[in-house]
Amino acid sequence: MTAIELARAVARTIPRGPCFAWPVLFVREFIRVRSLMALAELLQALDALAADAGRSFDGCQTSAELEEARIQFLGAKSGRLKAVQQLMGAVPATERPTAGKRLNEVKQLVQDAFQAAQTRVASDTGGVTRDPQFDPTLPGAPHRLGRLHPLSQTIDELKDIMGRLGFTAVEGPEIEDERHNFEALNIPREHPARDPLENFYLATAASQAGQPLLLRSQTSTVQIRVMEHTPPPVRVISLGRVYRPDTADATHYPMFHQMEGLLVDRHVTMADLKSVLRLFATSYLGTEVHIRFRPSFFPFTEPSVEVDMKWEDRWIEFGGAGMVDPFVLQSVGYDPEEVTGFAFGLGVERLCMRRHGVTDIREFYKNDIRFLEQF
Ligand code: DAH
Repeated sequence: MTAIELARAVARTIPRGPCFAWPVLFVREFIRVRSLMALAELLQALDALAADAGRSFDGCQTSAELEEARIQFLGAKSGRLKAVQQLMGAVPATERPTAGKRLNEVKQLVQDAFQAAQTRVASDTGGVTRDPQFDPTLPGAPHRLGRLHPLSQTIDELKDIMGRLGFTAVEGPEIEDERHNFEALNIPREHPARDPLENFYLATAASQAGQPLLLRSQTSTVQIRVMEHTPPPVRVISLGRVYRPDTADATHYPMFHQMEGLLVDRHVTMADLKSVLRLFATSYLGTEVHIRFRPSFFPFTEPSVEVDMKWEDRWIEFGGAGMVDPFVLQSVGYDPEEVTGFAFGLGVERLCMRRHGVTDIREFYKNDIRFLEQF
């Protein structure tokens, strides 16, 4: 309502009386009505502010939204509370206590609504309920660091040592046929090593393949596989599992690991074999190791030897070795008049046990963390 509209309305309400009193009455009434209107306007604005601010703060989901709403309602420069406060100037002194009281109430309401929203937004974990017992200042539970199995560590180290001597690591299958496990290695049918009771023959796989198959009983199979596909010279090692139906005790297990070595070239001699094995032994166990060959027999080497190593005043047998039998070279298409070679097969568990003082091979397969953690 403009001042003129207000004046007209006031003029209409002043009773007609003695002429001199009318202007006085008019002015007094005009001032009274206008101040009442200023008060009403302020109260109305305060109510609207309280309702709008409450709704707005309640609807905020993020701290960014909340900050925007705070500036809109509580902003020090141009917030709505500030604007409504300025209406106080128009309220007459007599009405100010009433107006001031309501202003303070609304101010408190708006601030409370803001704080409630602030707490709600801060504690909103995106659907994850907080554990009231959770104390973020406590030290965390440390993660256990895993490590390679001692035999895997040994295999890596053996590959490393032999790699430095020029041997490449190759792999072969654990399920083998009789040609690779026996025949090409010069192990005849009547040899005791081919007794079914000495091997894990695989009946189902064999019937599908149409020929006898078994879990390899030695890594010497890989010698054949390599020579079949590679013309000489060859210089390889192969580390892996082999299987024999032995009863488990401190030194036997139905599955264990071997390191096979094969070197075929022109003019290879037994002296080369001994040099390589001595270099290997001193690299793995230290300079105080001695090597000893004892005459032996293997169908695939001629001559054949058992390899012993002396370390800390004890001789230990580590495997077999020898010069590759000419029959074996022939069976893979090599010319024994052209090339010669040596081969060896060492027990990986034995090497690892000797080096670390493990006295029972079964420890490697129990998966007891207290044992494994020592490596
Ligand atoms: N294969 C033999 C075994 O399992 C070990 C062996 C002996 C491997 C002599 C060889 C070797 O390469 O030349 O008992």
